[in-house]
Amino acid sequence: MRIGLIGAGRIGIFHGQTLAAHPEVTDLYVTDPLLDRAQAVADDVAAQVVPNAEAMVGDIDAMVIAAATDVHAPLMLLAAEAGIPVFCEKPIAGGLPATNEVVERVRASGVPAQIGFQRRFDAGYRAAKQLVDDGSLGHLYAVRGNTHDYEPPPPGYVDSGIYVDTQVHDFDILRFVTGQEAVEVYATGAFTTADEFGDDRPIETGAVIITLSEGTQALMSGIRHSPVGHDVRMELFGVGDSVSVGLAPSLPLRSVEPDGVAVVEPTPKTFLDRFAPAYRAEIDAFIDVAQGRASSPCTPEDAREAQRIGIACNISRAERRPVRLEEVT
Ligand SMILES: NC(=O)c1ccc[n+]([C@@H]2O[C@H](COP(=O)([O-])OP(=O)(O)OC[C@H]3O[C@@H](n4cnc5c(N)ncnc54)[C@H](O)[C@@H]3O)[C@@H](O)[C@H]2O)c1
Repeated sequence: MRIGLIGAGRIGIFHGQTLAAHPEVTDLYVTDPLLDRAQAVADDVAAQVVPNAEAMVGDIDAMVIAAATDVHAPLMLLAAEAGIPVFCEKPIAGGLPATNEVVERVRASGVPAQIGFQRRFDAGYRAAKQLVDDGSLGHLYAVRGNTHDYEPPPPGYVDSGIYVDTQVHDFDILRFVTGQEAVEVYATGAFTTADEFGDDRPIETGAVIITLSEGTQALMSGIRHSPVGHDVRMELFGVGDSVSVGLAPSLPLRSVEPDGVAVVEPTPKTFLDRFAPAYRAEIDAFIDVAQGRASSPCTPEDAREAQRIGIACNISRAERRPVRLEEVT
């Protein structure tokens, strides 16, 4: 298979390595307006640098979009119009109108499309989903989830805000694991200046309460600076059992109990430390999707649902009120 990789930043480098290691990938093309980045990936994985995405469409069998968020929508449309199966990092776009246009046009094109919510491929989240699906947890009273980054994204990163850019992962995996839809959200948030990052960047924090379709209450926090490490978890409290995703020895959370469990170093510091196997598995799954062997494990429609929760959070925080999902159309 001939694959075009669009974007050679933090996640593009990793996807390039996964693609290059895949036995069915014979040719890899890479593009990034920052030429040194594209060249570094090309040197690392024996790919060929191409000036832009348009220049590679005639030569590729599938496209992997790992570019900055503001170009996802036009690139997905480029792939759809060329009839090329496409994988795209989240989010599809920063706003809902552009996401809607992509969802509708990709669906009309019939092109297979997968969005990059890698937690769907993480062993812990999959085990939790299994316990929900087989009835072991029974009715879920509550779910707690969090994404606490070790440090904020670097300057120049295109950020859609804490709910749509970061906590959108928690929203997607909440739907995936529980099988329930969000009905209503209440969100608050704050900006703090963390001088230690040296550039006076405001660090955004989000806190969200979600009512799910079967009455489950979900509490979710998003933090961009967690000094012990990258802390991503989900706790599920049901009639039959209480379980935790992410409660591993390397969990970056220090207990202050006299008999508490000590943190085992190294803790994960980046999303790549925490989810490397899941990122590899989602790209392997995409090769199956692109070859017509499997249906998409995370569709553009799924991504839109997670984004609608994030947008409901934006409205809730701005208007200081609970927002029903049916308001977000
Ligand atoms: N699924 C995840 O866990 C996860 C993790 C990190 C990033 N992401 C997503 O991946 C995307 C990239 O994030 P990142 O952290 O790698 O950002 P980054 O800033 O490190 O890299 C983005 C790259 O895209 C390039 N780019 C911009 N416009 C382009 C274009 N038209 N064609 C080709 N390349 C272009 C930039 O020059 C840059 O090198 C974002 O949308 C982000 O939301 C997802």
